[in-house]
Amino acid sequence: MLDRIAVLLLLVGLFGPEVRSAKVDDNQCGAFNEDQMLQMQSTFAIPSEHQWVARIVYGKGFEGKIRDNGCLGVLVSKRTVLAPAHCFVQYSGVAEAFSVHLGVHNKSAPVGVRVCETDGYCVRPSQEIKLAEIAIHPDYDSRTLKNSLAVLTLQRDAKIYPNVMPICMPPPSLLNETLVAQTFVVAGLRVFEDLRLKTWVNTLSRGFCQSKVKTLVTSSNTVCGYHKQPVAYYLGAPLVGMQKKGHVTQNFYLVGIMIDWRWENNRIMSSFLAIRNYMDFIRQNSNSLIVRS
Ligand SMILES: *[C@@H]1O[C@H](CO)[C@@H](O)[C@H](O)[C@H]1NC(C)=O
Ligand SMILES: *[C@@H]1O[C@H](CO)[C@@H](O)[C@H](O)[C@H]1NC(C)=O
Repeated sequence: MLDRIAVLLLLVGLFGPEVRSAKVDDNQCGAFNEDQMLQMQSTFAIPSEHQWVARIVYGKGFEGKIRDNGCLGVLVSKRTVLAPAHCFVQYSGVAEAFSVHLGVHNKSAPVGVRVCETDGYCVRPSQEIKLAEIAIHPDYDSRTLKNSLAVLTLQRDAKIYPNVMPICMPPPSLLNETLVAQTFVVAGLRVFEDLRLKTWVNTLSRGFCQSKVKTLVTSSNTVCGYHKQPVAYYLGAPLVGMQKKGHVTQNFYLVGIMIDWRWENNRIMSSFLAIRNYMDFIRQNSNSLIVRS
């Protein structure tokens, strides 16, 4: 009898209100909620917002070996994460990484356990999944950081919940549209903050960015702009756009991943690799991508 009570208590503990709610549809991507647009001033993202942000884990932990000591990636299918190649390949040419953490809301909180705050607000467990493979773009140049893209294949499928979801790939109808003078959102983790953050980015011409910050890494395959709030993220932070259908916004889709950033006059200017220019390489290295029409 005591044993049964113990088991019952354990079950109640495991399947509290937050965890019991239904799993989301496996083909869902880029969840968009207009309520979240109202809170763009706060910069903090809630757990079910920008939930495609992935944290790259190296053999010795999250802290990486490049500038800012950390890298992010973006979940684009249950098995696939995109990240900058220079998060893995330094001059030695050997790719190094261990696993990814998905669904991280507080970067200091333990992975794999449900985290509850004193006010009773609980966040689903984040997931750690080991890497099976890292494909580095064949034209990646570690000196200029041109084509800095890696496709990471996970050893098992990510479990899709409201706090872990892939971002949609760019819709074909937008593939030819200019990336300049657009309003996008970047989200990620950063050094001096526990919680996931988000910021507007207004994109500018490459020439303008270069005239402001000569050292910023740009190429014909990047898009650049200032962050609305002066918040610098770890490399790999995904830049997303809003896909509209008629007069409603349907979902977020992936525009780029951050490959470089600089301070300029108390502002942050970032450069993002334009993902749509790499669709063939990404498709060759991933089993399924999600595109919404
Ligand atoms: C993040 O998690 C750590 C460890 O559980 C905790 O000490 C810290 O207060 C949390 N941060 C926030 C902002 O909730
Ligand atoms: C985009 O441009 C390419 C090359 O110019 C063209 O082949 C393709 O049909 C265009 N796609 C759309 C959706 O306009």
